[in-house]
Amino acid sequence: MTNVLTRNSTPEKGSGIPSHIAIVMDGNGRWASKRFMPHSAGHRAGAQNLRKLSEYIETLGVKYLTVYALSTENWARPEKEIAGLIKLMHEYFQQYIDDSKKNDMRLDFIGDASRFEPELQQKIETLKTITRNKTGLHVTLAINYGGRDELVRAARALAADTANGLLTPDKIDEEALTRKLDSFPTPHPDLLIRTGGEKRVSNFLLWQCAYSEMFFTDTLWPDFDKKELHAALDWFGGRQRRFGGR
Ligand code: FPP
Repeated sequence: MTNVLTRNSTPEKGSGIPSHIAIVMDGNGRWASKRFMPHSAGHRAGAQNLRKLSEYIETLGVKYLTVYALSTENWARPEKEIAGLIKLMHEYFQQYIDDSKKNDMRLDFIGDASRFEPELQQKIETLKTITRNKTGLHVTLAINYGGRDELVRAARALAADTANGLLTPDKIDEEALTRKLDSFPTPHPDLLIRTGGEKRVSNFLLWQCAYSEMFFTDTLWPDFDKKELHAALDWFGGRQRRFGGR
């Protein structure tokens, strides 16, 4: 069964390539420390890897890629690290804007962008607008994103619709809530990959990952290359997805 609202799109065993891959890109800091470099150098290497790997992922026929670039909890990190990440976003978003003239990738964002300075918000809006009709890989960057925060904002939107008489409580179901998520109408991830050794979802796509297959690897994000990706895809190809059935 395929339903973009509540499910995923590749339920058959051995169907191979997932339609939607989500990645928690963890391990940038350790990658940098191992090289006696500052944390920011790890994030830079991580951003470069994202650029390179997404181009490769596009060639495989994957339709959606969603990556965790900054969580609602990451603001608790040292100011210098956050400033470095924001600077990196400015730089990379500009590169993505320049690239859009010659490639087919669609760029999208989830999370609460209102916390960012106006200039960055402007780049986000520009990228969304100029790539809206692109037909290549649909890349979604989760920035100032938290799954719980997204669900709270969705609940507020449903409450507002109810207060305004657009909705009655009995009409609030899984589909109604899904429609209020930042990620709507992107289908839910088929495969979630987390690099960097931890085995948790860390508040990423909590609702959307209900039936995602989860692949964990010790490899640090900047080292996660084509070969590592294929290991994840081979593993995914062998999973039998039942979505709670038999
Ligand atoms: C976790 O690594 C990673 C992040 C908090 C940020 C991920 C961001 C990027 C890969 C850059 C994306 C940038 C753009 C412009 C899209 P960590 O620092 O927690 O690693 P550690 O656990 O080894 O310390």
